[in-house]
Amino acid sequence: MIVAVTGVILILFVIGHLLGNLQIFLGPAWINGYAEHLRDLGPLLWVIRAFLLVDVVAHIYYTVRLAIENRRARPTSYRRKDTVKATFASRHMVMSGLIVLAFIIFHLLQFSFRTTDPRFAILPADPLGHYDVYTMMVLGFSSPLVSGFYILALFLLALHLSHGSSSFFQSLGLNNKNLTPRLAQGGRIFAWLLFVGYSSIPVAVLLGWVTLRTHS
Ligand code: HEM
Repeated sequence: MIVAVTGVILILFVIGHLLGNLQIFLGPAWINGYAEHLRDLGPLLWVIRAFLLVDVVAHIYYTVRLAIENRRARPTSYRRKDTVKATFASRHMVMSGLIVLAFIIFHLLQFSFRTTDPRFAILPADPLGHYDVYTMMVLGFSSPLVSGFYILALFLLALHLSHGSSSFFQSLGLNNKNLTPRLAQGGRIFAWLLFVGYSSIPVAVLLGWVTLRTHS
């Protein structure tokens, strides 16, 4: 139950964060203004950040505990393991989850604490006096290595969500012969839409569709 509820909160976050980030396609004024609005929340922003942090820690702690309990329930492993129903995604939730965690730590160092690139700390403000998140993102994703790592991590996030975004219904007891396969299909479509949406940003920068520019 705790894994399911904390997971749903994280799903809501990734939807909101994607909608915010896609504003890069509308130009610097949009994305920089949006980031400024978030910062204007002041103490409320810190409450939201603390809540998300507790949520992520609880999600990881309880999933890892569940995985350990599952393993302990069968101390001698199967001599032959024929997977009948479990998908690749469902069998690798801990692996995909931990790599996504490593990505989030890098991502926060890069775009929130701005310690990975010395240029980010000294970016001049945009004409409206806002921190220039647009330029920071374009500079960051101009590196094929950084963009490649993002796309790999986003792929694993999608794999993780392609199972997690529907399995939480089952964890909460909403299990039904007709509904469950449809929810599973919906969860997979949702996860891969998120992948396309998020990846479109580094891809657009690498292809030169989103470039550094004088602000509009
Ligand atoms: C292409 C993909 C992504 C882009 C371009 C992006 C962009 C950003 C930017 C620019 C910030 C800093 C906002 C600011 O300080 O003004 C940020 C913060 C953050 N991002 Fe992302 N992000 C991406 C993917 C993700 C994903 C997949 C996750 C989670 C799984 C995530 C989680 C976070 C978190 C937790 C923060 C910190 C928010 C805060 O400082 O309060 N991001 N992101």
